[in-house]
Amino acid sequence: MSEDSQNKNLPGIDEGRASDESIVKTHARIRREPSNASPVLFFTSMALITVLIFGWFYFRRYMGGEENTQIYLHERSDIALYQSWVDRPRGPIVYDYYAIGEDLYTRQACIGCHMPDGQGKPGEFPPLVGSEYVILEDPTLPTKILLSGLIGPITVKGNEYNGNMPAYGGGLKDHEIAGLVTYIRNTWGNEASETTADDVAAVRAKIGQRPQWTAEELASYLD
Ligand code: HEC
Repeated sequence: MSEDSQNKNLPGIDEGRASDESIVKTHARIRREPSNASPVLFFTSMALITVLIFGWFYFRRYMGGEENTQIYLHERSDIALYQSWVDRPRGPIVYDYYAIGEDLYTRQACIGCHMPDGQGKPGEFPPLVGSEYVILEDPTLPTKILLSGLIGPITVKGNEYNGNMPAYGGGLKDHEIAGLVTYIRNTWGNEASETTADDVAAVRAKIGQRPQWTAEELASYLD
């Protein structure tokens, strides 16, 4: 096979030796090959389909169940934990009123006026220890005072005061007021019944929004 009898475009194929039959066979072979199937397109679409299928399963598994798609949880154990929390039995909320009140007594600055030992300050702030406004059987009176405050002349344990006790009903929730009332009724040697968020809610609903009490308005409780 001489150099110049080689086909420049198709090396190895010698045009001079091609018979009619071999040309027909070659053409037939070429025609059988799929000409427009691009492997790039094929792999791209396979990758896309894989991502979509994977995405679907991923979403189903990790998005916290059908009705909780807003919650993203990655581990099956977390999903189970979350579900058990959702399905948890719900009873009434149980408050530790005394502990709530003990905490608020400091944080709500009662302590600054009525002092850490509840003795108040002579002539300025009345005591809570042994106070007839605190330890009476019915907790409604101290509840009313905490919700709406108290102003003007008052006698506590035989001593007179004329001050201004701020209202807490606007800033504190029912269970917090109940906590404070329960705490001051049961510390420093005071001993009286607990009150609850429901009790406070009832008093709150009854008195509504109102200005500070005067001792005179509350006098009937002390009879
Ligand atoms: C700024 C000072 C001040 C703060 C803070 C304050 N009180 Fe008073 N409190 C008073 C004064 C003054 C009176 C008496 C009001 C009057 O003279 O009419 C009073 C009265 C009371 C009374 C009725 C009278 C008595 O001594 O039993 C109770 C109960 C009471 N306060 C509880 C509280 C509790 C609980 C807090 C915290 C949530 C608190 N107070 C925060 C100043 C304060």
